[in-house]
This record gives sequence, C-alpha cells and structure tokens, in this order.
Amino acid sequence: MIKIKSSAEIQKMLKANEIAAQALSFAGRSIKAGMSTYELDKLIHDFIVGKGAIPSSLGYCGFKGSACISVNEELIHGVPSKKKIIREGDIVSVDLTTLFDGWQGDNARTFKVGAVSPEAERLLKVTEEALYKGIEQAVPGNRIGDISNAVQTYVEANGYHVVRKYIGHGIGTEMHEDPEVPNFGKPGRGPRLVPGMTICIEPMVNSTTPEVNVLGDKWTVVEANGNLSAHFEHCIAITNDKPLIMTLESH
Ligand code: MF3
Ligand code: CO
Ligand code: CO
Repeated sequence: MIKIKSSAEIQKMLKANEIAAQALSFAGRSIKAGMSTYELDKLIHDFIVGKGAIPSSLGYCGFKGSACISVNEELIHGVPSKKKIIREGDIVSVDLTTLFDGWQGDNARTFKVGAVSPEAERLLKVTEEALYKGIEQAVPGNRIGDISNAVQTYVEANGYHVVRKYIGHGIGTEMHEDPEVPNFGKPGRGPRLVPGMTICIEPMVNSTTPEVNVLGDKWTVVEANGNLSAHFEHCIAITNDKPLIMTLESH
C-alpha cells in the first residue's frame, strides 16, 4: 500500500532528510586515506546523534553500522570494519538513513578518495547523472516505470549495467515502504505518481555486469566481476510541480 503524505508530513520528512544530507556531506568531508570504514562509521554515528536523530540503519535486520560503507567493487551494504582501510584512489559509497521525529531520511553518494582513475570518474559521473534522469521523471501523471526506464536507458547508453537484485523504494515512517522503484523497466508501467508520494531513487551501477554477489558477512554486495560499482540516492517527494529533492542540506 502506498502511503500518500500530507504537506505537514512532508515538512517533517524534510527535516529527517536534511539531516541525512548534512550527514552525507559530513561523511564526504571526513573520508581520509588510511582510516578504516569503522572509524568513518563512528564519525557518521556521532554526527547524526548530535543532530538529535537516530541512525536507523544501526540494528536494522541486524546491520552492524550507522551507515553502509562500500569500497570500490563493493556496491551497497558494506559493513563498517576495523580491517577495511580506505586508500588513496578508492571510491567509497556511503549510504545512510536517519530517523527524526518519527520520519525517515535516506541518501547515498559514492565519494572519491583523492585522485581516482578516469574509469572511476566516468562511472561516478554517469551514476549521478542517471539519478537526475530518474528524478526528472518523478512528476504527477508519470508512472514508476518512467523513472526506472530513464535510469536504465541512461546507464546502458553509457556502457554500464543496472543491478536488478536491489531497488529503490517508498519511504516515510518506515525506511522501506511501497512502491518498489527499480532501476530498470518499461515506460508507462507501474504505479502512477501522485503528489504526496515520497520515494528513494537510487541507481546502483556496475561497470561490467548486472550481476552481484553477497560476501560471507551476508551483507556486503559486490560487482560480480570484481570491478567498480557506484550508488547515488536521493529521497524525493512528488508535488504538483517539480519533484522536491528532500535530501538537500537546507531548503
Ligand atoms: N539505506 C538503504 C536503502 O537505501 C538501506 C540500508 S540497509 C541497512 O534502502 F541495513 F543498512 F539498514
Ligand atoms: Co539508502
Ligand atoms: Co534507499
């Protein structure tokens, strides 16, 4: 069931999402070569708590971290670890969720650590642009499939692959609500978009295959060929007008 939010509810969600965006920006500023993903996670935890919010990924289905931190071929759900050291030239995906006043915020971005390879640069650029291609379609009258297809078309036109096994989602008082928001599909299909719908659009893009594997820790999802992957996510609201990107640091 898709829950349509009132404008008062959207206002509350904005706060949770602003904190999520601030925390993500803080994470980007905090990443340094030589630090472990565990250390980065602790910084993110303290930042979110310092804003009066709850890092809602912590303990979610048993997840041991306040953020998912995924390095290079790791796509999503990287478990923060003292053994995972971030190096110059890595790409680091941070995906974090915040609970504030009963409402969830959720966003992700793949950061560069110092200078990265031209392939990494292009992958990040295409994945972020694919997110905005999806957001452009998030207008009343369109359907979820229009978002999905815009993301897929752009990613594949650039020679990359969208992951099928993991998808975007509705969001509200729960981190994951209806509808499903895949990064692949046909235009004109799926639920119709109406004002008050709040969804996370989150292209997950692999360099060389749509396939993924899950590591022995049961969480970390990796590009099946061991090549680079990237993840960008915004939480948006459908309005009567343009899509409202809720995961901005201020409004
Ligand atoms: N933030 C993720 C999403 O975009 C979900 C987090 S999984 C968790 O849907 F286990 F870390 F919570
Ligand atoms: Co997320
Ligand atoms: Co999400």
